[in-house]
Amino acid sequence: MILLTGGTGFIGSHAAVELLSGGYDVIVLDDLSNSSFEVIDRIEKISGIRPKFVQGDVKDVAVLNKLFGEFPIEGVMHFAGLKAVGDSFKYPLEYYSENVVGTCVLLSVMQAFGVYDIVFSSSATVYKPSNDMPLSEQAEVGEQSNPYGRTKAVVEKMLADLALSDPKWSIAILRYFNPIGAHPSGLLGEAPNGVPNNLVPYITKVLTGKLERLHVFGDDFDTEDGTGVRDYIHVEDLSLGHLKAYEFLKHHSGVNVWNLGTGIGHSVFDVVRAFERVTGRSIPYEISARREGDIARCWANPSKALLDLEWKAERTLDDMVRDAWRWAQYNLN
Ligand code: WQD
Repeated sequence: MILLTGGTGFIGSHAAVELLSGGYDVIVLDDLSNSSFEVIDRIEKISGIRPKFVQGDVKDVAVLNKLFGEFPIEGVMHFAGLKAVGDSFKYPLEYYSENVVGTCVLLSVMQAFGVYDIVFSSSATVYKPSNDMPLSEQAEVGEQSNPYGRTKAVVEKMLADLALSDPKWSIAILRYFNPIGAHPSGLLGEAPNGVPNNLVPYITKVLTGKLERLHVFGDDFDTEDGTGVRDYIHVEDLSLGHLKAYEFLKHHSGVNVWNLGTGIGHSVFDVVRAFERVTGRSIPYEISARREGDIARCWANPSKALLDLEWKAERTLDDMVRDAWRWAQYNLN
């Protein structure tokens, strides 16, 4: 049985479907602070299997002890955490508490119960902004532009130190690029509270009339069309990467790091045009000032994952946008 912390969130819920469909037994732990219980019904609807669910906080030792005591958990995918870059400046202690302390508590309980396989959700934001593109796993880590990114970098260090202390640990660190898209059924997707910070949820709110226009954060970057370039990856491709990484851990120990991206950069205008193509609607926008901390370009060299895991992202930007749009139409109204 695999424990998915944060398993009702955007990426965790898609991973749950992937694992259940792959024959794994799944138990979800989530405090539902940024997701809803209905996601469990939807995971069941898609996969035909209902995952076990426990509502609780990953920092709660008592909850974790009970969970590991009661269920035959063999490994963990740790998705639980806070991820809003802007909020991480306002509430750094919450970010360190949820992301760093939460992981520390989880790892301690895993160790106590002799569970040593963990897949951790990290981020491409751990890389130094001055690196050349594309980013391989060898690129320098450091100088993260926000507290959120620093919490991910701290956890990566903690995992490395843990692996040094005991060869029984098998750890996968997955550095996500920009996960977007949704389940093609329209049942699972990303539902941020309030005004979205990220590009795709913002665009779908503009398209459904909930927000007036998109603010393009800068058109004077050193990129082909002047807007920021990112490596958008479909959440379903990302989920499969988790399954492959977990299977790798069965035969390897120590810390293993993989970039999960497509290797292709798309600009803000590329994403806008993809939505216009898919929806047949035009997206009102205006050019605004650059957002603090935004870099011009960021995309992966994902060849290590291909080599080690035989994993490669298959879905195109249009696939991502089509699925995000279907989800938005079913769920935003
Ligand atoms: C993408 C591009 C913006 C919103 C962030 C986190 C990262 C990861 C993913 C994980 C940029 C532009 C955006 C808008 C815009 N988080 N943009 N108008 O910043 O690459 O990555 O999310 O949990 O850690 O840093 O993603 O979607 O916010 O921005 O013009 O309203 O879209 O400037 O070029 P980002 P994003």
